[in-house]
Amino acid sequence: MRLLIRPGVPEVAEAAADLIEERLRSGLRVLGLATGSTPVPTYTELIRRHRAGRVSFSGVRAFLLDEYIGLPDGHPECYREVIRRDFTAHVDFDDDAVRSPDAWSADPDAAAAEYDAEIRAAGGVDLQVLGIGRDGHIGFNEPGTPLDSRTHVTDLADETVVDNSRFFGGVRDSVPTRALTQGVGTIREARSLLLVVTGAAKATVLANALRGEIAPGCPASVVRDHPDAVVICDEAAAAGLDRTPD
Ligand code: GLP
Repeated sequence: MRLLIRPGVPEVAEAAADLIEERLRSGLRVLGLATGSTPVPTYTELIRRHRAGRVSFSGVRAFLLDEYIGLPDGHPECYREVIRRDFTAHVDFDDDAVRSPDAWSADPDAAAAEYDAEIRAAGGVDLQVLGIGRDGHIGFNEPGTPLDSRTHVTDLADETVVDNSRFFGGVRDSVPTRALTQGVGTIREARSLLLVVTGAAKATVLANALRGEIAPGCPASVVRDHPDAVVICDEAAAAGLDRTPD
């Protein structure tokens, strides 16, 4: 695992976009996308580079990590709308090439298995972008999720519901409590991982993920035993780490 510490959010976004640009140039075909607020500056930087003619997503397929269960189709906070609004609609992604778990299926368990199969059929994810929840979750894999789990239906932890209520006008009861998420095992199969972490509120969890045990108690800890993982964080998020970047 490589750890890059940058001064602040703009420099983190630049470093993350540099990595994605480099991978696009060397033939990346399948990109795993995360929602949440952390990767947004990276996506904005990629949009800027696309407009400047530096990067293209033509021919690239994208797979989202997760999707809420229970929101009406087309709700502005469902992740397939969020990613479109924040990123994919502003670059040359084909709309059909941006995939997400089918949280509207009458059979979500079957939809989960189909999503794994779809990722496999696409040849697997080349580079998976990740954020981290304050409790160490990646995707919606809350603490305790087995490290070999596949895409599945899950319940959100209370802390996650509270954290995500900011996207729902601060109304906790408006936040869905279930989701379909790629499993930790699914995520680990990506050929490369890029974990982006910013802000003081993530300092404790980042220290747990990078310096604690690699264990289900902190799903994000799996970045450490992945053969090609890069963690890019800002100084604020790095506050709990010893300062020897790998
Ligand atoms: C959500 C998403 C995660 C994301 C996390 C952190 O729960 N399912 O993929 O990493 O939030 O979000 P943020 O970057 O807004 O702190």
